[in-house]
Amino acid sequence: MEHLRVLFSVSLLFAFFVSVSFCENNGEDILIRQVVNGSEPKVLSSEDHFSLFKRRFGKVYGSLEEHRHRFAVFRSNLQRAMRHQKMDPSARHGVTQFSDLTPSEFRRMHLGVRGGFKLPKDANQAPILPTKDLPEDFDWRDRGAVTPVKNQGSCGSCWSFSTTGALEGAHFLSTGQLVSLSEQQLVDCDHECDPEQEGSCDSGCNGGLMNSAFEYTLKTGGLMREEDYPYTGTDGGTCKLDKSKIVASVSNFSVVSINEDQIAANLVRNGPLAVALNAAYMQTYMGGVSCPYICSKRLNHGVLLVGYGSAGFSQARFKEKPYWIIKNSWGETWGENGFYKLCKGRNVCGIDSMVSTVAAAA
Ligand SMILES: *[C@@H]1O[C@H](CO)[C@@H](O)[C@H](O)[C@H]1NC(C)=O
Ligand SMILES: *[C@@H]1O[C@H](CO)[C@@H](O)[C@H](O)[C@H]1NC(C)=O
Repeated sequence: MEHLRVLFSVSLLFAFFVSVSFCENNGEDILIRQVVNGSEPKVLSSEDHFSLFKRRFGKVYGSLEEHRHRFAVFRSNLQRAMRHQKMDPSARHGVTQFSDLTPSEFRRMHLGVRGGFKLPKDANQAPILPTKDLPEDFDWRDRGAVTPVKNQGSCGSCWSFSTTGALEGAHFLSTGQLVSLSEQQLVDCDHECDPEQEGSCDSGCNGGLMNSAFEYTLKTGGLMREEDYPYTGTDGGTCKLDKSKIVASVSNFSVVSINEDQIAANLVRNGPLAVALNAAYMQTYMGGVSCPYICSKRLNHGVLLVGYGSAGFSQARFKEKPYWIIKNSWGETWGENGFYKLCKGRNVCGIDSMVSTVAAAA
């Protein structure tokens, strides 16, 4: 089954490449050859793609001008997806729900990691763990430690989702119960600042840092349930924390060294990890293992590392390569049902650079 899927994606990729060179020779209009459920390949124009896109994601534009503008952005994103496909052949890139946003709109509205790399005063350096008996494949989703994929909406609050995801896992490990925790509490109430970087504070939809959010959570006593403090995706509201309703608390948190084996060992021992990465390839990502030849290590997005696989993809006929399994916060319609796969082993897109692990009070 897995093999069939791989074969299928390889043929999809092949079709894509054929069309890429076809388009480039063609010049003017962008055409993408799409294989429709394995039968006859269909050639769609960018207008067709835009109509499908609008229908699929329920996009409506207020004016003819806006429509024209969004179509222009969409066309340039189709070209960007093709460039990403060339740079990242083991993943599939194409039309996503973000295809009508410019890269800067996308960064502003759907990412949200800001700040430096200095540690809050209560953060520790994670101890070095033994790594020789690590499982080949590991996935916290199979062990009940991961809540369903959430959606941050048009708000740069990724950092709060990465934080709740890690604490949800740690809380599950210490109590045996999986409880969805409140991001809105962090968005409204957490204004913790990076101790070493002036003005770099958690600021709702304008970004934040997971380590600062752990520090806030430790100081304030914990987080409320999602349903008791539901997500609105807007900031500027007052803090509605009711301390009597706190359900999960941080006992301590640590920063993991930049070493893939240590990251895996901490993941297996302590639960899902809060990580930051560069999200440049994620706007056009549709599935597969992303492993771009070039990707900046400038961190701008916070996500949750939930597992890894030992052999998920191969470029041409080389040996199959390992990858990380990452939970994102853009809903289930993005990526692989809301998840992202990124190759493991060479700090691609900065994935090893800012990793933290948290322990929950029982
Ligand atoms: C392909 O899709 C069409 C239309 O949805 C459907 O009628 C047809 O049975 C599908 N073919 C295969 C091979 O799945
Ligand atoms: C929490 O503290 C304990 C005891 O010092 C330590 O062994 C553990 O690694 C820490 N866990 C995290 C996630 O920081």
